[in-house]
Amino acid sequence: MKKIYLLLFTFIISILSFTDNVVNIYTTRHYNDVDNLIFKEFEKETGIKVNVVLQNNDANLVIQKIKSEGKLTEADVFLNVGFAELYMAKKAGILQKITDKTILNNVPTNFRDTENYYTGISYRARVIVYNPDKVKKEELSTYEDLANAKWKGRILTRSGSSSYNKHLISFMIAKNGEKKTLEWAKKLVSNFARTPQGNDRDQAVAVYDGIGDIAIMNTYYIGKLINDKDAKKSAAGKKLKIFFPNQNDGGTHINIAGAGITKYSKNRENAIKFIRFLTDKKAQEMITNMNYEYPVNPKAELNGLVKSFGTFKPSKISFDNMSKHYSKTVIITGESDWK
Ligand code: FE2
Repeated sequence: MKKIYLLLFTFIISILSFTDNVVNIYTTRHYNDVDNLIFKEFEKETGIKVNVVLQNNDANLVIQKIKSEGKLTEADVFLNVGFAELYMAKKAGILQKITDKTILNNVPTNFRDTENYYTGISYRARVIVYNPDKVKKEELSTYEDLANAKWKGRILTRSGSSSYNKHLISFMIAKNGEKKTLEWAKKLVSNFARTPQGNDRDQAVAVYDGIGDIAIMNTYYIGKLINDKDAKKSAAGKKLKIFFPNQNDGGTHINIAGAGITKYSKNRENAIKFIRFLTDKKAQEMITNMNYEYPVNPKAELNGLVKSFGTFKPSKISFDNMSKHYSKTVIITGESDWK
């Protein structure tokens, strides 16, 4: 009789563990094409089902949700674009330290949290793109130089309330202090070719259309434009040149997309396996080949087009340091009238 019970017990446990073979994701990322393919590939390799339980652009909302759910949260992994939000998640106490050796080996320290509460899975540079008919490479130098009166009416960038520009401003505050950054922002805004509108790609198209001569934008959008089915967008991507600012002054501002394991993850082993996969060569190459981002794992081969953008020195200012200034960016954009 005991034997039957034991068998029954083992059977129930195996059923439970089978249905439990999942990893639950809360994500703020907006790159469904590449993410879904990576999730499928992970499922195929491991048999672990990836459930996207929540997808929302508002990182604050996602972090608060995980926090309020506490021990009952379904989330195993928090996926996000932007170091400031990953830092916010760490500070909210919703993440646990990543101690897995494979993950830590996959990702160099400069692309991870100082305390390993999150790891980067890719990075991108916020660069200056220019119309080579209007601007010579030698005229470009630093983000700081964009405050120079020579750029009057020539600069395009999106809203100061966009996460990408807020990250850039955080970088500027960490580098030059709040006072100098405000002065810089005021002059930058006075050089705008138009009131900010649209996303990064729209700025590139506007440079192509002659509305301005240079734009501040993320590198991967040039890759996306070149490969866009829309003939004009593709022409804009091919026409514009990329300039990596501050190569002789601390390096170009970079941002990461990253992942963290939630503090109360119920599928912790699967979460570890998932992040191992994300940071391993195969997924890393999918990210660079489909999204034109830079892989964080140096073993991954860089996409050919991304390689053609040229090599550059990224800034070494820590994500913690920049993130601490993120809340001040609202003051900078408000006082400089960066709409
Ligand atoms: Fe983006």
